[in-house]
Amino acid sequence: MINITTKLLSATVDGIAEAGRLLGEGKTVIIPTETVYGLAANALDADAVAKIFAAKGRPQDNPLIVHVASLAQAESLVSGTLPENARLLAASFWPGPLTMILPRSSLVPASTAGGLDTVAIRMPAHPVALAVIEAAGVPLAAPSANRSGSPSPTTATHCVDDMSGRVSAVLDGGDCSVGVESTVVTLCTGPPRLLRPGAVTLEQLAAVLGAVEVDKGVTEHLDDSVRVSSPGMKYKHYSPTAQVILLAGDSERYCDYCNNSLAEGDCAVCFDEELSRLAVTAIGYGNSNDHDAQAARLFSLLRELDSKGYSRAFVHAPATDGVGLAVYNRLIRAAGFDLRRL
Ligand code: TXA
Ligand code: MG
Repeated sequence: MINITTKLLSATVDGIAEAGRLLGEGKTVIIPTETVYGLAANALDADAVAKIFAAKGRPQDNPLIVHVASLAQAESLVSGTLPENARLLAASFWPGPLTMILPRSSLVPASTAGGLDTVAIRMPAHPVALAVIEAAGVPLAAPSANRSGSPSPTTATHCVDDMSGRVSAVLDGGDCSVGVESTVVTLCTGPPRLLRPGAVTLEQLAAVLGAVEVDKGVTEHLDDSVRVSSPGMKYKHYSPTAQVILLAGDSERYCDYCNNSLAEGDCAVCFDEELSRLAVTAIGYGNSNDHDAQAARLFSLLRELDSKGYSRAFVHAPATDGVGLAVYNRLIRAAGFDLRRL
């Protein structure tokens, strides 16, 4: 059992220096990023990386994202020269919520990459995250700082709730502005392929790269016999204890369904403009056309379902354009792929 004293650090010059010092000693520190909080350790130190897997209860074959503060640092992690596609994406979206999968150099321990010969790299936009990477002086492996299976943390309080006693420190950088994890695109297969949608949208990637394929696992359930491109996609994710049911249909059908079918202990998770038309317990998660707001609220909302003790949540499915694809992708997993068309 892990039982470490967890320090609480603030995002001051001293707090950032302390985080850098702990990381330099091979310890784990939870850091803010613009997407979600990350559970960081020195990506180049297999012993430090082992502490991440232990703290999260993460399967060893699920690789970690390595966070860098400069393009030169990214290049050192990649075998051979950086492909042209990667340069173009970096110029357009870094620093920011985009992770690229590239061939792994020998500098990166196999355990960081879950045993794969590729490595996931991202340059985060959060100034505190960049400052911590610089203070540590090494690239930082950092998965989302939740316990494996639960919703990703978007506030320092979520991190303390999940990880107190399991990491050396939590650095509080306030609420994460994006709210869903980065877009993951692989450049290691033929045409570039989207493995996980995020705030850098499919449309934006296609504008830079031309054609981009979408992995089947983005919207569909992959059974165990299918070889997944991104190991993280096969694990149950983002699930609150409450049963989540995703309902697809127009506003009128959704409101009628909820008003007629919800029982004691149920909750409607609707678009804000639908709140006034629902006669049952309801929580809004942003306007139907405001995918950024939906993304920013999503994970707090999933945690709130449990803290309020609901047994079932009937969520109105978002449209899948733009950032909506990322919101839909997280919700369909939270729902264990229980999507009902009205
Ligand atoms: O926004 C984010 O990406 C956050 C913050 C902390 O940066 N991090 C994050 O990490 O979401 P994590 O570990 O929760 O999700 C990483 C995903 C997993 O689905 C993993 O399987 C996939 O990226 N991944 C990592 N390395 C990979 C690789 N070499 N090939 C394919 N998929 C990879
Ligand atoms: Mg995660």
